[in-house]
Amino acid sequence: MIYADHNSTTACSARVTASMIPYLGERFGNPSSSHRLGKEAGAEVERARESVAALLNARPSEVIFTSGGTESCLQALFGAFLGKNTTDAACTAICTSAIEHVAVHHAVATLAKFNSLEHTRLPVNESGVVCLSALEDALKAGAGIVSIMYANNETGVISPMKEIAALCQQYSAFLHTDSVQALGKVPLSFADLGVDAMSVSGHKIGGPKGIGALIVREGSPWEPYVTGGGQESGRRGGTQAVALIAGFGEAARELSEKLQNGEIDRLRQIRDSFEKGLLECLSGVTVNGASAERLVNTSSVSISGVSAHDVLAELSEKEMYCSAGSACKSSSMSPSHVLSAMGLSLIECLGTIRVSFGSTNSLEDAGELLEAIREEVVALRKKQEKSLAALMKKTEGNQQ
Ligand SMILES: Cc1ncc(COP(=O)(O)O)c(C=O)c1O
Repeated sequence: MIYADHNSTTACSARVTASMIPYLGERFGNPSSSHRLGKEAGAEVERARESVAALLNARPSEVIFTSGGTESCLQALFGAFLGKNTTDAACTAICTSAIEHVAVHHAVATLAKFNSLEHTRLPVNESGVVCLSALEDALKAGAGIVSIMYANNETGVISPMKEIAALCQQYSAFLHTDSVQALGKVPLSFADLGVDAMSVSGHKIGGPKGIGALIVREGSPWEPYVTGGGQESGRRGGTQAVALIAGFGEAARELSEKLQNGEIDRLRQIRDSFEKGLLECLSGVTVNGASAERLVNTSSVSISGVSAHDVLAELSEKEMYCSAGSACKSSSMSPSHVLSAMGLSLIECLGTIRVSFGSTNSLEDAGELLEAIREEVVALRKKQEKSLAALMKKTEGNQQ
């Protein structure tokens, strides 16, 4: 099997799985309980918090465990809205980009709808990079909360986050960045970034599904939204998912070790060899976002004359897994909002494949995958040529 869909999710390593098992069994205590079992569980939660903080260069006290990236994004934005309205002048406008993940799009839509907020979606250029002058216009017009992803899940294109943070600081806007895809694929330092809040997810870095973290800068105007029983220092109520948190902590430690051992350069080599090979062996291939700064593991490639879903179905038969730039919804296709925002036509969106490499991949995988894609594309194009030729013949016959 070649799994090259790491932006969708990743497998837990044996080490991560083993780290969770005690907390599903004999160490089942509630971290809020004051007896030995509770303290044991609580100590594991704090160890994981330190590991996640270390990976992100944040303070442990800035890490709030959540149920994943989607919840982190929502908590970041709802909490920013509450915080802005308690400390500053009321927030009346919010600004995101056209390429955000639905976790942000939908949270903002709800927030804007029920609070009558104005919502600006910043355009991106043809490489998928957010337009900074449009951001400045939105800030000048009063956007009090800004949410811009660190790196895009489909194209891997990285946002100019330091410039974005400087602009938001200049206009005293709260800045959240969805860093779910950036973690582990680019050096990330929360302390140096100048953002107020950052969202990350466990299952994108070799941790289990259903766990993530929201990192909130100390002193930033953010108020808790889910208060419940006061867990997570009163910032996210609900009994903590100890086993998942333990797995997330172990995944963070494993990833830190990999990063120290050159994982980013290793992934870049694999991605570059895949793209170079594909461009050499097939005509009509475009790498989306090629001229922008991109995540080292992600290739979004548009291939003319084929449907990505047909190619992926054949690859899946060979136990090779990647994903498409369009989503199947019952019998119709919905093109990616990210690729559409970059100006790709419907036909280009339908012919787009996303390959995302990760810790389980090697250079050999890249070679095998590109050869399988080449074979399938050649076969599909031939089939199409044949049916077109047959149609031409029939049409000519009818004309005589
Ligand atoms: C950029 C981005 N943000 C948020 C999410 C949501 O994360 P989760 O699956 O942990 O809810 C994803 C997941 O694909 C993502 O790619």
